[in-house]
Amino acid sequence: MDSSALTKVITLRCSKCGAQSASKTQFCCASCGAILEAHVNSGHLKRDDFDRMRYSRDQSIWRWFDFFPVMNRSSIVSLGEGGTPLIHARRLGERLAIANLYLKNDTVLPTGSLKDRSNSVGISVATELGFETAAVMSTGNAAASVAAYAAAAGMRSIVLVPNGTAMSKILQAHAYGATVIVVDGDFDHEVAALYKAAVREFGWYDCLSSNPYRVGKKSYAYELVDQLDGGVADWVIHPTAGGTGIFCMWQGFQDFLSLGWIDRAPKLVAAQSSAAAPFVAALEKGLEQIEPLIAQETVAESIQVGNPVALGSRALAALRASKGTAVALSDAEILQAQALTAGLAGIFAEPAAATSVAAARKLRECGAIKTDEIVVCNLTGHGLKQPEAIRFSKGDFKPIAPTILALREQLKHAQA
Ligand SMILES: Cc1ncc(COP(=O)(O)O)c(C=O)c1O
Ligand SMILES: [Zn+2]
Repeated sequence: MDSSALTKVITLRCSKCGAQSASKTQFCCASCGAILEAHVNSGHLKRDDFDRMRYSRDQSIWRWFDFFPVMNRSSIVSLGEGGTPLIHARRLGERLAIANLYLKNDTVLPTGSLKDRSNSVGISVATELGFETAAVMSTGNAAASVAAYAAAAGMRSIVLVPNGTAMSKILQAHAYGATVIVVDGDFDHEVAALYKAAVREFGWYDCLSSNPYRVGKKSYAYELVDQLDGGVADWVIHPTAGGTGIFCMWQGFQDFLSLGWIDRAPKLVAAQSSAAAPFVAALEKGLEQIEPLIAQETVAESIQVGNPVALGSRALAALRASKGTAVALSDAEILQAQALTAGLAGIFAEPAAATSVAAARKLRECGAIKTDEIVVCNLTGHGLKQPEAIRFSKGDFKPIAPTILALREQLKHAQA
């Protein structure tokens, strides 16, 4: 046990009925069935601890070890996740009329998406609890991330995907050694039912967002405060599906608020595809709970979630508490934002990730965001995750003769 473990107390508690769980491996409350939350005592931390964490040599999320439900540093399974650049995107900001536009570039995370923040913490806990197999059902980024961290931990990983999932999505997980099971059934019902039953039957470590240990996205809040030099953004916009990002970021800002390390929190915004926007609908209707809906097809594949079953309502409460909002974006708006982010800021984000920039644009246009406010857009997945989303014309890559004349002609066309 290392020295911080001497002061660390980790408990699983029910946010609904307040019961504390006697088990470390049951993720639902034994009394009321609600999903549990992991609590780590941090009240003893001092301002000096903030500086120690900020200036640690390790720039990964593990600088913030004291806030994560992992007992021993020796259990950490890390691929260097976190510490991603916060870029002041001046040209893009000029275009959107947001002078202080910042991009949190999570496209550079180890497996190319934000899931690494969650799974580094989740899999580290799995090793402490003695699990040998990690499982997830996913159509994309989660599968690759769980597979990578399980590989690094020496665990087996099993991924359930519905029949029809694009090969490009399956291959990354397969490359890390995951056992990929393709199920003949639809994702939300049949695959979900089989997955749930299999986790129970085989005792796998469940890496869905109902797992209370997967709170690595709290690191967004910590990193942003650090990168804004102890300051707080006015807005943080997060591409939202299950709600883990919004829920965890809010918790992260609360951690710092309760220690007096910051004096306010930003407004949080859930950026959604209009084809799958349950947060937007819930806010518009003034609901306390998320109403599940059936997600339609969208170019923002990674956030095509109609029923954020585990954390939806808690994330909704976080949006409200932060005085933030949720914004729905059309595929056209998302693709425009993707192109602008690549062309004016030099970051190639997948369409789902670019919803944050599309939402910033929309909120600025309607006057909600003021011109000099600090706006952070989380870019949560790499563009190469979904290269087929990039539009190009038939003639774009036609070979030319190897002559200056032909090249000159081609350049003239390209300029036009
Ligand atoms: C690229 C990308 N962005 C954002 C999300 C949003 O997830 P959450 O709302 O759980 O933070 C996901 C995952 O579902 C994703 O793959
Ligand atoms: Zn309960």
